Amino acid sequence: MTERKIIDDVRDQYAGVARGELSNESTAVRSIANAFGYSEDDLNQLPAEANMGLSCGNPLALAGIREGEVVVDLGCGGGMDVFLAARKVGASGRVIGIDMTTEMLERARAGQQKLGLSNIEFHQSTIDRIPLPDNSVDCVISNCVINLVPDKLAVFREILRVLKPDGRVALSDIALKQELPSEVKQSVEAYIGCISGAILIDEYRSLLKQVGFASVVVTDTGADLNAYAMASDDGCCGGSSCGSDAGGAVADAGQKSLHDGLASVMQSFDANAFAASVRVHALKQPSTQPVNTIPVLNIQPTSKEKTMKTVQVYDKPMCCSTGVCGPDVDPVLPKFAADLDWLKSQGHHVERYNLAQQPQAFIENKEIHQLLSTTGTDCLPVVIVDGKIVSQTVYPSRDDLAGWVDGSPARQSLPLAEPESGCCGTSGCC
Ligand SMILES: C[S@@+](CC[C@H](N)C(=O)[O-])C[C@H]1O[C@@H](n2cnc3c(N)ncnc32)[C@H](O)[C@@H]1O
Repeated sequence: MTERKIIDDVRDQYAGVARGELSNESTAVRSIANAFGYSEDDLNQLPAEANMGLSCGNPLALAGIREGEVVVDLGCGGGMDVFLAARKVGASGRVIGIDMTTEMLERARAGQQKLGLSNIEFHQSTIDRIPLPDNSVDCVISNCVINLVPDKLAVFREILRVLKPDGRVALSDIALKQELPSEVKQSVEAYIGCISGAILIDEYRSLLKQVGFASVVVTDTGADLNAYAMASDDGCCGGSSCGSDAGGAVADAGQKSLHDGLASVMQSFDANAFAASVRVHALKQPSTQPVNTIPVLNIQPTSKEKTMKTVQVYDKPMCCSTGVCGPDVDPVLPKFAADLDWLKSQGHHVERYNLAQQPQAFIENKEIHQLLSTTGTDCLPVVIVDGKIVSQTVYPSRDDLAGWVDGSPARQSLPLAEPESGCCGTSGCC
């Protein structure tokens, strides 16, 4: 099938979904959104037409959107994430929803009218050609869309182009843990259902790096893709029921047969074994070069004699080793995880301990043990380089990490222990 034909089929199917009756007022639709990280409070802010149970994550939990920012939602559908982001950017910010499907944008515009929000625009376009100027956006979000686009590299290039230097991309999407069985790969229904257009998690990471993104983190959220099916067959993307509706609101027989086809593909296939709901976070560095250049980090070892350092990070209790799973991710965590990966790539040895999962490590390290008994867990996270505490209470930047492993002083002063806790200086406890 040609790329043009795939895009046309995807548009036709989502037009049908938008014409149907799926809505935020349906318990099943809401339970899909709950399963992928939206709170009841989030959902209560939405107009009925915005949520059709089409998401596969919550990119806003990762995006760290601030007041006054310009945010773009690629494949905005009925506008669910646009409306939630619009509240975060406030009157001084702007949120732009882009979708290729007329019927989706009709829903989104109807919702905007109901909410009376004036800091929102919707544009009709495919997302491999984003109709926005270069360097004009602070944050690009997207929810369960990029898997549907045949030319993913073009989308990533476009995201990089429209982002301002230091801008970020925060995506929820479906990606693969392993290659799909060939019958699923060939299935049009599985493509429309966000499964067979998905790429491997490693490929996702490398395509983003290839176009020039930095600090790329792609994490499996562990969400159960059967959430769609479990929510009484009326959700869509990623599950066994794309395009269907519990109450029989499927617009026509063509769609119904497509849904039936996908359901039968899925019956012989454990979606969770092959595919995952992923969170993706990456940065456009000020120095980002055009497509196909590898980003050049401005922090390079200056001397061949430099020795490799051991960097230990003692984290607060977290849900997983990097803290980038769960419904509400502190946006600093994916960046810090990527910075640690960068340290490893420079040959340094990195160890990371999480109080919830490796409490023994906190007891075995004398300095950490002593610090915890004096200050409690408020001192976490603590970073130790070659046995010396170099920072506590905050996650350091890549510049700081680079400075410490280089032997140069921190470029940014980070809080070390409070005077009353008996610590001093930039080298840690005394
Ligand atoms: C699974 S739905 C997700 C909608 C929305 N993000 C949400 O979470 O509710 C996919 C959406 O992406 C849109 N879409 C798919 N491929 C697209 C493309 N190449 N360009 C623009 N929009 C696209 C569809 O029209 C549809 O609205």
